[in-house]
Amino acid sequence: MICCKTSALQKGENVSKSLLSVQEARIRAKKRIPQMMFDFVDGASGDESLCGLNSRALDEIRLMPRVLVDVAERNLSCRILGQETGLPFGIAPMGMCSLSWPGADRYMAREAAARRFPLCVSTASSATLEQIIEDAEGHAWFQLYADQSGDFVDELIERAKVSGYEVLILTVDVPIPSVRTRDLRNGFTFPMQWGPRQIWDFATHPLWSLATVANSFAAGMPRPMNYVTSSFGTKFVRNASRGRANWSFLEMLRDRWLGKLVVKGVQCPQDALQIKAMGADAIYVSNHGGRQLNAAPTTIESLVAIRKAVGSTMPLIFDGGIRSGEHVIKALASGANFAMLGRGAMYGIGAAGASGLSDILDVISSEASSVMGLIGHKSVTEISAANLAATHHNNLSKGLDDA
Ligand SMILES: Cc1cc2nc3c(=O)[nH]c(=O)nc-3n(C[C@H](O)[C@H](O)[C@H](O)COP(=O)(O)O)c2cc1C
Repeated sequence: MICCKTSALQKGENVSKSLLSVQEARIRAKKRIPQMMFDFVDGASGDESLCGLNSRALDEIRLMPRVLVDVAERNLSCRILGQETGLPFGIAPMGMCSLSWPGADRYMAREAAARRFPLCVSTASSATLEQIIEDAEGHAWFQLYADQSGDFVDELIERAKVSGYEVLILTVDVPIPSVRTRDLRNGFTFPMQWGPRQIWDFATHPLWSLATVANSFAAGMPRPMNYVTSSFGTKFVRNASRGRANWSFLEMLRDRWLGKLVVKGVQCPQDALQIKAMGADAIYVSNHGGRQLNAAPTTIESLVAIRKAVGSTMPLIFDGGIRSGEHVIKALASGANFAMLGRGAMYGIGAAGASGLSDILDVISSEASSVMGLIGHKSVTEISAANLAATHHNNLSKGLDDA
């Protein structure tokens, strides 16, 4: 599916106002939103090296071009967890998106409805999970943290069920908070604390500040709305420890959640095998965009290792470092069934709100379609390890033969 604006882009029309790459969106977002908010999105843990390595590892993969194949008509739609989607990628769960721009969650939900892709809704989303699935016309999956309050978790599971979510994602890679230096330097806390640094930051980014103040009259200041609307009065504690959650939590959740269950933040093949054995419907390979263990492998390395371990039929979802349509196709060729955009989507919103997000989704879709054609396919469902150039192909296919 290629939408109208991409056609205009391809023809070279009306390109002056559009974002043409995630890199460009990142630069514009950096100028437009307060540094504290930009750093919250852009930042990572430790020396932040893993975040960049995730993308560089994707860059290094080579795909084999194929020739004399009729690829005039191409189709990006696919199927994941029993759902038909218009694109081979969706948007990863991200908390407090409206810090980047007011209404961010709802922009994403409307795009999910229009393009038929799953929007993963964070436990800490800045619109309620009910509002988002309504705006997304059902194209939403709910992401749960094993929070400190059992009552709150029970309530969220029930709310997700009642409001029509069919897929629940359990994020398991945040047992304890990581050290994020930029947030510490900026004095970024939640709820926000006001000091001269913050006031200066907002004053020097008037577009963001005016939009946020104007929106606050109608919707209030950005808040984690699933907490705000909880009947237990559970407070969102950004650095809360979830260190007590263990395998029994997953066992409990598998028993309670009758829909599709995805476990997110898996990197170790042994963990993946156990999660598969415990009845999860998909494994979501992710290192949280380098925001947790900075010393972890890149996500594409983990993806290949996990695909080898779990065999060819277990659905694998992938995120981490995706900044282009080429990256999406490379993830699919390396063993993923579906990919998710994290910061790539947020940079679009930070750069130009709803239209920035739309531009980024157009650019990534258009590029994925083009790369798919150049490797000789009409449909994403045809992409496999056979599309990888020699070194990468050998590595992955050997493992799959062994699996
Ligand atoms: C601002 C921000 C907030 C995030 N919040 C969550 C969250 O609430 N739950 C979660 O499972 N992952 C969260 N993540 C991690 C993303 O789901 C995803 O794994 C990561 O962004 C992928 O890497 P990328 O941004 O480099 O593409 C967050 C990431 C960012 C950038």
